[in-house]
Amino acid sequence: MPPVISIAGLSKTYGTGFAALKNVDLEIRKGEILALLGPNGAGKTTLISIVCGLVRPSAGTVTVDGHDIISAFRATRALIGLVPQELTTDAFETVWATVKLSRGLFGKRRDDGFLEKLLKVLSLWDKKDTRMMHLSGGMKRRVMIAKALSHEPEILFLDEPTAGVDVELRQDMWALVRGLRERGVTIILTTHYIEEAEEMADRIGVINKGELILVQDKAELMASLGKKQLTLLLAEPLAAVPEALSRHKLDLTEDGLSLVYTYETHGERTGITSLLQDVNAASVRFRDLVTDNSSLEEIFVSLVTERA
Ligand SMILES: Nc1ncnc2c1ncn2[C@@H]1O[C@H](COP(=O)(O)OP(=O)(O)OP(=O)(O)O)[C@@H](O)[C@H]1O
Ligand SMILES: [Mg+2]
Repeated sequence: MPPVISIAGLSKTYGTGFAALKNVDLEIRKGEILALLGPNGAGKTTLISIVCGLVRPSAGTVTVDGHDIISAFRATRALIGLVPQELTTDAFETVWATVKLSRGLFGKRRDDGFLEKLLKVLSLWDKKDTRMMHLSGGMKRRVMIAKALSHEPEILFLDEPTAGVDVELRQDMWALVRGLRERGVTIILTTHYIEEAEEMADRIGVINKGELILVQDKAELMASLGKKQLTLLLAEPLAAVPEALSRHKLDLTEDGLSLVYTYETHGERTGITSLLQDVNAASVRFRDLVTDNSSLEEIFVSLVTERA
């Protein structure tokens, strides 16, 4: 299946001379949830803004559903819903009017029933006649989501969708996003909550200083980089890893006081039982044992700092 969004050689240098994106290639698959991770200023919003036609690229091309985003702007934009990072709404309008207007902007025929369902799913129905300025921050963000979905887009960009949203609502939002994916909507989200990417994404892209440094299947990424460590804090220092333990992949720390065993989190067997049996048999005494899990967060931090 051809990618729903195809980005090739995309660069953006702002008027200030700042290169916010450098030669980014990315293909987004139909129906996937892609999470874009990256530190502040990495270029995530710039990338999204270009695909949505809000920022002009300096070089490169983007096609949405096979159409160029610049020469076929209206057609491609109509396929996209965008929840921007910055909340922008008319303070004096009501929730209902805001969402209705948004649907109309994309030339969709009026469908109050659809909008009612949408507001209900987003727990906004009881606020439909409330003016935007009287909503809380989390409610405003949900209205932004309702606006983005008002014209039933096939692709949804969520730029920091859950910033400032409480834990319970965040769970609701994840459920909503999953529901959309089940209906075939392609979702691209940026987030600073690694757990959000871990929880939601099919693939993870990492952007750092304007470069897309990695795009990978989440499960693969976690399996290839996700390792666990078991550390045995020894009662007495060792000069070397005892011969009897040589079949295990062990590292001895410099002070000789800890043996570190690294194993795959996704492996069938961890090897811990046989390691501990051999440790016992070799009369190596330990006073404590700690395990350490490499999370997506650690993977992400190591990727970004490696290239700092
Ligand atoms: N209109 C602009 N003019 C000049 N520089 C800009 C403009 N917009 C963004 N930048 C710069 O481009 C870089 C990337 O910004 P961008 O908003 O894309 O980052 P981001 O990854 O979305 O960050 P955050 O996680 O903080 O939202 C930043 O250094 C920013 O200062
Ligand atoms: Mg941003």
